[in-house]
Amino acid sequence: MGNIEQILEEKLQSLKDRGHYRYFLEVNKSAQHFPHFYYRNPEGVQRSAVNWCSNDYLGMSTREELISKLSFTMHRSGTGSSGTRNISGTTNHHRELEKLLAEWHHKDSALLFNGAYQANLTTLQTIGRHIPELVFISDERNHASLIEGMRAGGNRKIIYRHNDTAHLREILESLPEGHPRMVVLESVYSISGSLAPLKETLSIARQYGAMTYVDEVHAVGLYGPDGAGMVSQEGLSEMADIVNGTLSKAIGVFGGYIAASALVIDFIRSHGPGFIFTTSLPPAICSAAKQSISLIRTNPAWRAEFHEKVTLLRQSLREAGVAFVDNPTHITPIPVGDSQLCRTLADELLWKQGIYLQPINPPTVPPGEECLRVVVTLSHQLKHIHHLALSLKKIVNANHPANRPSVKAFVAAD
Ligand SMILES: Cc1ncc(COP(=O)(O)O)c(C=O)c1O
Repeated sequence: MGNIEQILEEKLQSLKDRGHYRYFLEVNKSAQHFPHFYYRNPEGVQRSAVNWCSNDYLGMSTREELISKLSFTMHRSGTGSSGTRNISGTTNHHRELEKLLAEWHHKDSALLFNGAYQANLTTLQTIGRHIPELVFISDERNHASLIEGMRAGGNRKIIYRHNDTAHLREILESLPEGHPRMVVLESVYSISGSLAPLKETLSIARQYGAMTYVDEVHAVGLYGPDGAGMVSQEGLSEMADIVNGTLSKAIGVFGGYIAASALVIDFIRSHGPGFIFTTSLPPAICSAAKQSISLIRTNPAWRAEFHEKVTLLRQSLREAGVAFVDNPTHITPIPVGDSQLCRTLADELLWKQGIYLQPINPPTVPPGEECLRVVVTLSHQLKHIHHLALSLKKIVNANHPANRPSVKAFVAAD
């Protein structure tokens, strides 16, 4: 016991020495004032700041309709489901939400989980474990939940260079014909904001008989004619065999899911430990998520306005001379390239400018790719955008110009 604690302490110290130790900012979230929130500075004084790192892309988590829906259902159904899906935890709200998700993604069926992390982990692990000879072919920038899912099944995994379809083809070509294989990728990469060449990737996978798994966590709600994501925007629903999404970011509520063929969903429902052996989502959460998706589907103007704000943000950064990665999605990384510096910049932005940008340090990114990940939401106004650009110019550019890596280097590494 003593020995174990000593080892753990040494490992924590090593994180601190490398500037990778995580300090959580206690955010007093305000539904009325989002994107403003309150926090206490190191002296214990309450301050207000603007949140620039929330994934509440469309501001749904603070919408009155959803708050009312959630409290209405909660008054009727109680706070929690109090059961696993098999043992009294499948309510009409779960069923209706799964039906809506399946329809949204043009799939036979969908399955709810307590988060997209759990959906990724459970689905990949379960399929892998039941088909031991299956080979996973994984984009090198895949999210931790996908990596853990592939690892947990104990299968062979081959990594292809990020978004490199020639490399993917080479790997598929090298596998014996008829050998079970699955290509695993994200459509929108969560930190770098890079976009997968979906059409080409899915076509190659199909050509070589591979099943495809697409994590759409940062795309659902934001892309496509009714907001179902990038797969839908590109008209590729039929070629993406399993789609994964979250209810916790653009949808603004909580939970995760997969959508796929009736057979795949039935298999995971029947064999997935992370689905079977856990209490199901609260019914009220399901009803609010359902309401949120219905609103998102029928309000394309929100998506248009959101993407206009991304354009305005980038224009403003350009005018202020702040270097950023101009990728084709809504996620705007500001490269820093050093953990301690990233932490210092974030602290100065918060304390001196009232800007909250959480430093993105390892293990979220590999060392050298530390960045500030800027996310605009529908709730940010033009005045917030201008303030952010000027603050970044002051703090990031003026204080540390010599230490900044070039954007080009960051893009190349991505
Ligand atoms: C790409 C990606 N996949 C999955 C997840 C997990 O989603 P959730 O928060 O719903 O568990 C995240 C982040 O949260 C993510 O960025």
